[in-house]
Amino acid sequence: MSGQGPGTAAGEAARRRTFAVISHPDAGKSTLTEALALHARAITEAGAVHGKAGRRGVSSDWMEMERARGISVTSAVLQFDYRGRVLNLLDTPGHADFSEDTYRVLAAVDCAVMLIDAAKGLEEQTRKLFDVCRHRGIPVITFINKWDRPGREALELLDEIEREFGLRPTPVTWPVGIAGYLRGLVDVREPDAMLRYARTPGGAQQAVEERVDAERAAFEEGADWAQAAEELELLAADGAVHDQDGFLGGASTPVFFGAALPNIGVRLLLDAIVDLAPAPAPRELAGGGRRPLEEEFSGLVFKVQANMDPAHRDRIAFLRVCSGVFRRGMTVTRAASGRPFATKYAHSVFGQDRSMVDTAYPGDVVGLVNATALRVGDTLHAGPPAAFPPLPTFAPEHFAIARPKDIGRSKQFRRGIDQLDEEGVVQVLVSDARGEQAPVLAAVGPMQFDVVAHRMAGEFAAPITLETLPYRLARATDATGGEQLNRSRLVRGEALVRRRDKQVLALFPDTWQAASFERAFPDSPLEPLLAAHQ
Ligand code: G4P
Repeated sequence: MSGQGPGTAAGEAARRRTFAVISHPDAGKSTLTEALALHARAITEAGAVHGKAGRRGVSSDWMEMERARGISVTSAVLQFDYRGRVLNLLDTPGHADFSEDTYRVLAAVDCAVMLIDAAKGLEEQTRKLFDVCRHRGIPVITFINKWDRPGREALELLDEIEREFGLRPTPVTWPVGIAGYLRGLVDVREPDAMLRYARTPGGAQQAVEERVDAERAAFEEGADWAQAAEELELLAADGAVHDQDGFLGGASTPVFFGAALPNIGVRLLLDAIVDLAPAPAPRELAGGGRRPLEEEFSGLVFKVQANMDPAHRDRIAFLRVCSGVFRRGMTVTRAASGRPFATKYAHSVFGQDRSMVDTAYPGDVVGLVNATALRVGDTLHAGPPAAFPPLPTFAPEHFAIARPKDIGRSKQFRRGIDQLDEEGVVQVLVSDARGEQAPVLAAVGPMQFDVVAHRMAGEFAAPITLETLPYRLARATDATGGEQLNRSRLVRGEALVRRRDKQVLALFPDTWQAASFERAFPDSPLEPLLAAHQ
């Protein structure tokens, strides 16, 4: 496949924007997702994406537990056309605890929209997710949401972003009127007018946008217009103007104001995703260099999910296409094993709706059904070999021993635990002291344990008991470190465990204990793992 035109890998990649919305729960991610899709007309009425109570339509919630809690644990992928581009919006789980999954989704996007609640500013989950974006070099567009409700001052919110993230905020839209009294928005690229919105109750349809010129805005909005104009002058004098290189390089973030629920400012955000967000670029390979977009097909499995649809017991591997053209039915190679993998059952997954996918291009996400052989982090390729760097495993902070409730079901127990380990639902650690029948489950957030317990009982008919362990951190070590730990009496033997990749980990109740060990054995290798919480 060569060339840049339509239907070629490079030509189609240039038309794609693959992104995720990151936010603290309740900031309005589901609402914004719906508003974006509505503007792009992927759905006809807001409320069709997440199927929240009373809303109809495609639901990305798939487990009973999720429904009971009203949270979204899984990720769906929404694809829509807008202004001649193809937008892939990857949904990230909504719950603060379920963060590891979110990190993996971020490995599959080229840009993130950071959604901030105008009344709350930067929140815990926003910080963590932003750290991952910075770590991965993902450019961030900021959307300050809920401006229709009382909240903080615009300049103060910008200060907070700059101070806490060291990211230069460069407003692209600016509100006329304080939070809770939104009169309209100024597109700073056309500062001689204001955009006014006619509200649509419940955001059920697109808001109607009216352009009001400066003279009329000054007459009709008086002090609010004057203040906005003054603030804009201040910002311009301060050099807070969008700079594409700064944005792509992670030094600045274009900022948009609005309100997702009444659909205010959403079009401008959508335009920014098309105009500012980067198109898929050649992806870095594990051995150095990059896989050219026009090279034969390659893709990265960033998520594996079993039993998404209770009607069919199946397992879907979500694959982001990184180069070439994916055609359903093609046989590709799984880089890790060198074995062929048939792609007969390739779907696009929109909430719970699936449809067959025939071709996909760089930036697109394909759901491979019944992909039992695939693991998170796998590379699939056609033609010349490719292997992308493994996805990071984060430092667990919660530990619990899992045991089968019914000892007679230990086979099902092992099968279930192995499967959940492979899916990356939790990390499974084994200690010599306890053996395989009592593995230690390790999680970034404790909700991962609930998911394991639920799925072990429901899918594997092997209900488990969980005994929480008093450890809070893990450090990587090796056989020497392990021996010293055993002898040190500072840690009990049971705190020495092995991960599936054979990495030996030492568990400690706190950093103080880890530090005492390091002082006692200064030559012993004890490496911190990649922190999910910084
Ligand atoms: P999440 O996915 O980030 O968790 O947030 P979600 O979209 O569910 O929004 C959280 C709450 O904030 C919802 O209200 C939603 O209607 C509200 N919201 C989102 N965007 C805006 C906005 O721009 N303006 C205002 N005023 N509210 C907004 P809820 O009552 O908790 O839920 P629901 O019953 O309305 O779904």
